[in-house]
Amino acid sequence: MLIRNALIENSETAKDLRIKDGVFMEIGSLKEEENEEVLDLKGKLLLPPFIESHVHLDTCLTAGDPCFNMSGTLFEGIECWSRRKEKLTAEDIRERVNKVVRMYAANGIQHIRSHVDITDPSLMAMKTLLKLKEELKDVMDIQLVAFPQEGILSYPNGRQLLIDAVKMGADVVGAIPHFEFTREYSVESLNFALELAKEENRLVDVHCDEIDDEASRGLETVATRALELGLYDKVTASHTTAMHSYNNAYVSRLMRLLKMSRINFVANPLVNTHLQGRFDTYPKRRGITRVKELLAEGINVSFGHDDIEDPWYPMGNGSLRDVVFLGLHVSQMMGHDEIMNSYRLITYNAAKTLHISENYGIETGKPASFIVLDAKNYYEALIKDSPVLYSFRKGKKLVENSPCKQSVLF
Ligand code: FE2
Repeated sequence: MLIRNALIENSETAKDLRIKDGVFMEIGSLKEEENEEVLDLKGKLLLPPFIESHVHLDTCLTAGDPCFNMSGTLFEGIECWSRRKEKLTAEDIRERVNKVVRMYAANGIQHIRSHVDITDPSLMAMKTLLKLKEELKDVMDIQLVAFPQEGILSYPNGRQLLIDAVKMGADVVGAIPHFEFTREYSVESLNFALELAKEENRLVDVHCDEIDDEASRGLETVATRALELGLYDKVTASHTTAMHSYNNAYVSRLMRLLKMSRINFVANPLVNTHLQGRFDTYPKRRGITRVKELLAEGINVSFGHDDIEDPWYPMGNGSLRDVVFLGLHVSQMMGHDEIMNSYRLITYNAAKTLHISENYGIETGKPASFIVLDAKNYYEALIKDSPVLYSFRKGKKLVENSPCKQSVLF
């Protein structure tokens, strides 16, 4: 198959791509072969598939059931979820996850890292997600984090549940230090999680300091243990919203450690601007980690959706465009190059976090997985909220959408 006239990753010159046996065989100025199937993109933007680096598939589409989060705080969200969890069934999870995966696919996403709540003695969500991961693998790569929503040390049998979830097949070990009862528990829970990851050869993704408390310093422990255990970029710190409130002298010391540790960061702009600052009067904090400063230091940062219509966030539609759009605003990353390159926050940077870079990207010899947007570059795509026209996975067309059409009759 020949894909013609693609503007690859904001390039101003169109190129052609030849796909054979599910991989990119040639990229350049190519001649059509006899009887070759041709798709002419007529100068549309071609990108590698989008990657959702942080979501909770098990909680999606449960907003208002049994209660809405009225205060908008993370902690009321956890309370609402705790009540919803009581009526969780495998069928209920399957139905919602199948819906959400299709929402994501329609928006050009082909890889998802999902946290799955394992503070449940039956581990029902993890068991169900492991099956769904296998069933959906032709349309979506799903990486699963064993996520102890109610704590490792602060939830009955929390340590054993985390071990069981990992042995069962979870790809990533999670933790939630700011939710543990004490600072000591917080440090101990991180030591436990990272050592378990080392032993079981897993990645790590910690819900880290998702609070406006400037004294919440799980991040320094995560980075130190990543460094000392030699886990480095296998470790990710998600959220780190307390870093927004740290004093600058402390951050300047912390940055040295963060660079040495080589850990990744995931920020979730939609959800954290909604959840954080809830105990502030005015001024109200923006609730996002220091994205611009981390990137300037060469530290890897990606953006995630986090929640889609659940106790922590009543909105969301599976489109990462809104995530990037808001993230650029609240992080004050509105320079021309910052906007143009922001697709990297949901493509290459996220691929690094998920450790899938080897088979990812628009290069000869790599799997022919890509998306096409109805725009000439990512700046235009963000402004126009351009739909994903096509999503191809290993050479096979998964999604086809109509171009945006407006008719102003004057
Ligand atoms: Fe999260």
